[in-house]
Amino acid sequence: MYRLAPSLLSADFARLGEEVENVIAAGADWIHFDVMDNHYVPNLTIGPLVCKAIRPLTTAPIDVHLMVKPVDKLISDFLAAGADIITFHPEASEHIDRSLALIRDGGAKAGLVFNPATPLNYLDHTMDRLDIVLLMSVNPGFGGQTFIPGVLGKLAAARARLDACKQASGRDILLEVDGGVKADNIAAIARAGADTFVAGSAVFGAGRGGDPHRYDTIIARLRAELAAAGA
Ligand code: DX5
Ligand code: ZN
Repeated sequence: MYRLAPSLLSADFARLGEEVENVIAAGADWIHFDVMDNHYVPNLTIGPLVCKAIRPLTTAPIDVHLMVKPVDKLISDFLAAGADIITFHPEASEHIDRSLALIRDGGAKAGLVFNPATPLNYLDHTMDRLDIVLLMSVNPGFGGQTFIPGVLGKLAAARARLDACKQASGRDILLEVDGGVKADNIAAIARAGADTFVAGSAVFGAGRGGDPHRYDTIIARLRAELAAAGA
């Protein structure tokens, strides 16, 4: 019912493959892959070559979050690199419908990402082409920021729209949240309506120190919080 998607942004890049394998072995569902271009956001991270390199290490879905402008060329590159899910920020695309179609025609699941100040209006004419909606609960660009509490109300509003869509069309659209998700707030975030949780610093920060780094304890803690929230 709930999916945990650790963000590689906070992983140990000197041993990235091992990090991917260990976090999946510890019970993570997806790998969240943050792509920043030093243009749409003021940071520079990893691209399709790294996605291609980790692809053979896991069968878990790779969830590519594009914080880039323009988006379409990188959509094609990430499809070729084995991405399963590709999300982008609608204000960064020259043509939202075309970008969504590119992703889906390439066989991946497609989604839009909403910054904290981006209105949900972008859902008005796109819902039938979406597999996932991602609400940012920090301003994009960096890991380790604090969850913005006002996003709880926005999650509830998005949940209501996705539930109405499910009623009308029978289609399930996932509701993902990204930024500042920790063990002490994940239950409240789930109760607001999210079903898929990105956690970067909470997961990779907690497991540091051992050799290899171990993530079983933090993943189990997050799952226990979610189980309690669903009860
Ligand atoms: C922020 C990224 C997030 C980030 C989450 O721009 O999109 O995925 O890595 O990191 P934490 O969980 O540390 O906020
Ligand atoms: Zn992200």
